[in-house]
Amino acid sequence: MKRIDVIPMPNKVEYLGGETKIDPQNLSVTVCDTMDEEEYILVVEKDGVKITGGSEKAVFYGRQTLRQLGEVCPCVRIEDKPSFRYRGFMLDTVRHIFSIEDTKKLIDAAASVKMNVMHWHLTDDQGFRIYSSRRPDATFKGSVRKSSDFGRLKESGEYGGYFTAEEMKEIVDYCAERYITVIPEFDVPGHSSALLHAYPELSCKGEPVEIKTSQGIYDDILCAGKDKTFDVIFDILSDILEIFPSEYIHIGGDEAPKKRWQECPDCQKRMQKEGLRDEETLQGWFTNKIVEFLKSKGRKAIVWNESLNSGVTDRSVTVQMWMDKKKLSVDFANDGGVMINSDFFHYYCDYPYGMTPLIKTYNYNPVHRKIKDKNTVAGVEAPIWTEYINNFEHLCHMFFPRVTAVAETGWTEEKNKDAADFQRRFRIYSDILKEIGITPAQPEEWNPSVFDRAVKTVKFFSGIAKRKN
Ligand code: ACM
Ligand code: ZN
Repeated sequence: MKRIDVIPMPNKVEYLGGETKIDPQNLSVTVCDTMDEEEYILVVEKDGVKITGGSEKAVFYGRQTLRQLGEVCPCVRIEDKPSFRYRGFMLDTVRHIFSIEDTKKLIDAAASVKMNVMHWHLTDDQGFRIYSSRRPDATFKGSVRKSSDFGRLKESGEYGGYFTAEEMKEIVDYCAERYITVIPEFDVPGHSSALLHAYPELSCKGEPVEIKTSQGIYDDILCAGKDKTFDVIFDILSDILEIFPSEYIHIGGDEAPKKRWQECPDCQKRMQKEGLRDEETLQGWFTNKIVEFLKSKGRKAIVWNESLNSGVTDRSVTVQMWMDKKKLSVDFANDGGVMINSDFFHYYCDYPYGMTPLIKTYNYNPVHRKIKDKNTVAGVEAPIWTEYINNFEHLCHMFFPRVTAVAETGWTEEKNKDAADFQRRFRIYSDILKEIGITPAQPEEWNPSVFDRAVKTVKFFSGIAKRKN
C-alpha cells in the first residue's frame, strides 16, 4: 500500500484503507479551541478532506501536510502536533547580503516544513544592516565595508547595503502570513565593529574602528562604562521594536573578548560602582541592562550561550546554545531557564557536508541527556553564516537538506524519526523546493565517505584560510 511521504513526518498516522484523488474544492476546515495551538487533525477520505486545528496556524500546518500528500493519496487520519515549540532557521545577511526576494524563498521553504521562527542576523563586525531612524549614522556609516577578504571570496571593491524599515516590515508580514515569527538580532557588546565605526566614542579607547573585511573575533567591543553606549543601543532597539513585533529580540552576546574592558578606566569604574567582580560579570550586568529595557517595552531577550558565563544573567532570557563546553546552557535550563539548541557541530549549515553530514544533523538529539525536563528546551534552530557564501545558489546548497532535517527534528518526536526514511522522503519533497526556486545539495553529497569527509573538510578550511594575493 502507498504510504504518505511528508516532511516533517507526522506523529500519528492511521491508514483507513484505499486511496482517493484529492479534490481541493472538497475541503472542510474547523478551528477547535480545545486543541493545542499548533495541533491539527487531517482526515482524507473518499468523500472529502477535513482539517481541524487548534488555531488558524494549526490549520495552516494541516494544509502544508495536505500539500505534500499529492493528488492521489491513501485515505488517512493524521493527528499531529510538534515535538518542540521553537523551530527556526537563522540567516546571516551581514557578511553577505541576501535579497528580500531570495529571503522569501527561504521563508516559503521553512513554512512548508512547519518551521515557525526566522532569526535574522542583521548586525556584526562586517556591516550594520538595519535602517535606524533614531541613529542613521549607524546605518549610513556602518553599512559599507571597504573590501571583502573571506578566503577564496576576496573582493577589492566596497561592499554594503542595509534593509529599509519597509523592507524589514515586508519580511515580517510575509512571515506572519506563514505563521513565522521574525526574531531580529542586534549583536552586542561584541561583533560590533560596524557600529563602532559609526560611533568610535562608544569604544573603550575612543579611537576610530574599521568595519571589518574578514571573519574574526575582534578586541574592540562596545564600552560598558560609557552611558552613551546604552543611549545608542536603546535608540536602535526602539527602532527595531517598531519594526519587529516579536516577543523576543536577539541581543547576541557571543564572542566578546574582555581585553579592552580590562584596560578601560570607564569599564573599571563601572565594575567598582556596581560591585562587579570581573569583566565577565560586567557582561552579565550589560546584558541585564538591555533585558530591563526590553522588559519595560514588554519584550524578552534571546542571547548566545556566552552571555551565561557571568552567572548573573537574568533568568528571563532564553539562551541559544551553539558552543558550550561547560554546558552552562544545560545548567541554566535545569535551573528554571529556557534554551534553544543550535549546536555548532550538528546544526551549523555553513560548514561542509564533509564535516557535518546530513545524517549527523538529522540524528542529533537536541535534548542533552542531562536535561531534566524536555520543556526547558524550547526547540531547535539551524543557522547559516555567510562569510564563505556569497550567492543564493550556494546558500541553498549548504542549507538544504540540512535545514529541513532540523525542521523534522523540531516537529517529529524522537521515536518517530528515521534517517533513511527522511532521505527517501526528501527526494520527493524536493519538488516543492523546486517550485519555490531552491536547488538542494544532491543525494550523493549528503553523507560523504570517511575519506571524502576528510578531503572536503581540509579543502573547506584551506579555502577559508587567508590568501596572500
Ligand atoms: C556564533 O556562532 N558566534 C554564535
Ligand atoms: Zn570601556
